[in-house]
Amino acid sequence: LLSISDLSPAEFTKLVLNASSHKTAVKAAFGAGEQPPKSLHGALTGKTVAMMFNKRSTRTRVSTEAAVQLMSGHPMFLGKDDIQLGVNESLYDTSVVISSMTSCMVARVGAHKEVADLAAHSSVPVINALSSDYHPLQTIADFQTIHESFPARTPSDASLGLEGLKVAWVGDSNNVLFDLAIGCVKMGVDIAVASPQGYGIPDAMRKVIVAAAEGVAKPGKLIETTVPEQAIKDADILVTDTWVSMGQEVESQKRLKAFAGYQITNELAKRGGAKPDWKFMHCLPRHPEEVDDDVFYGPRSLVFPEAENRLWAAVAALEAFVVNKGKIL
Ligand code: CP
Ligand code: NVA
Repeated sequence: LLSISDLSPAEFTKLVLNASSHKTAVKAAFGAGEQPPKSLHGALTGKTVAMMFNKRSTRTRVSTEAAVQLMSGHPMFLGKDDIQLGVNESLYDTSVVISSMTSCMVARVGAHKEVADLAAHSSVPVINALSSDYHPLQTIADFQTIHESFPARTPSDASLGLEGLKVAWVGDSNNVLFDLAIGCVKMGVDIAVASPQGYGIPDAMRKVIVAAAEGVAKPGKLIETTVPEQAIKDADILVTDTWVSMGQEVESQKRLKAFAGYQITNELAKRGGAKPDWKFMHCLPRHPEEVDDDVFYGPRSLVFPEAENRLWAAVAALEAFVVNKGKIL
């Protein structure tokens, strides 16, 4: 699982619904003082999941380790100073060796090519835990959060029933946005992106996002602008992420200047004409410059359920790719 592009609308829908139903079932079992349901407990017995992380992580690391543990497997965390990768050994050698000893690699590396190369040479499933281009586990959790927040909408086999909703992304066009946009296109959700000049979606990525519409009966539209108010008009969900992703720290000053005026606030949402019941999402970690406290900690914010849903997204992905060998049942 390198990107949401790898999934058909039906597969993506199923993963999100599985994440949601595991959440309900595990919470009910734990509430009753019982073990996780049989479908999960023991599902990874005797299996090791290698977690290769060259960058910091709170949610992805904790959710993956907790998910493997819930399924009775062994999460093996390999940080950047733990293994030879990138310093003393090639990706090819690392991939062949680690996949010969484990049942899955969950990898947070740098350039997308690195995780793609790991996958190309691995004999076990590889799950992208964030690359320069994509963050599929985040997108599964994000759609689970949207699905749970719009309960009146009924999923079908090929979609979550969210058609006609509008997401407004205000901020940097980055890895989290790209997979979210692919998910939106596949689910019939319109996505409007407002980024400053020079920080919009690169041409090659726009092609990938547009290609996600192929074969989708009612794909979501991608709208691009430099004006936050235009993106926000009639939006149901406002989303942003940091203006300075990991690895871009040297550009901080330049970026903070370029993004002035893009902070999500209640005033901006009102000025832009968001829907009356608009909600707010953010993958976290959050910095106050991209969204103020009133919105982030306010009643419209879904950020903490969204973060918790990372656990259920990890459970659903491990079940599909490791337990069921890529069949999303
Ligand atoms: N949202 C997310 O991936 O957070 P971490 O970087 O803490 O894993
Ligand atoms: N865009 C951010 C996401 C972190 C989860 C980054 O790449 O650092």
